[in-house]
Amino acid sequence: MGRTFLEAVAKRRSYYNLGDGVVTDDSRVVELVDSILATMPSPFNVQSARIVILFGKEHHALWDIVSDELRLLVAEDKFKATKRRIDDAFRSGRGTLLFYEDMSTLEALKHAYPLYADKVDIWSEQCSGMHQFAIWTALEDMGYGASLQHYNPLIDKSVARRWSICDDWRLIAEMPFGEAKDTPSSRRQTSPPADRMRVYGL
Ligand SMILES: Cc1cc2nc3c(=O)[nH]c(=O)nc-3n(C[C@H](O)[C@H](O)[C@H](O)COP(=O)(O)O)c2cc1C
Repeated sequence: MGRTFLEAVAKRRSYYNLGDGVVTDDSRVVELVDSILATMPSPFNVQSARIVILFGKEHHALWDIVSDELRLLVAEDKFKATKRRIDDAFRSGRGTLLFYEDMSTLEALKHAYPLYADKVDIWSEQCSGMHQFAIWTALEDMGYGASLQHYNPLIDKSVARRWSICDDWRLIAEMPFGEAKDTPSSRRQTSPPADRMRVYGL
């Protein structure tokens, strides 16, 4: 990692104009995902996160599925603009990560710890968020731009069919990444961070 952890966290942004050039070897992205799956915390160490990595034509196929599904929903006169956005912001990139949670592991956890059963689905979302954040930040640190998208559940069935995803896996988010072609505007604060924290006993 070229930067410190906090520098990398501060540098991470959402990019909506991606290119497909090689910023770093694709195998490094696979290694990154492997490392994150091996190290992220999870409730009772359940390790329910599952990540599908799509490059090249597989990545294109995902965004074609998104366009095809949106075509059925969006008014005909608006669809051209929608498709252009999907193509330029996401499909034009190098790859996409699909974040899933394996519900079978979570059901087993609920069964093993009935006292916490009503918390498990919330923890599952939190845990997936940790994976998403760590990978998003690490991709940025590698020189890639990325964004976080939620075309689920619209695309779930078509995606499951295309990549033989088992019924137990629930799609949580999609993260397209690639060369960052746009420069995000400076960060907007809804209120100063100091107003959003409380400190006692300093
Ligand atoms: C849980 C979560 C869900 C998000 N969902 C979307 C989304 O569906 N589409 C999108 O374009 N951005 C999504 N974002 C990105 C936020 O809009 C973005 O992070 C925020 O505006 C701050 O901008 P930055 O990422 O450039 O710092 C999401 C972010 C988070 C943390």
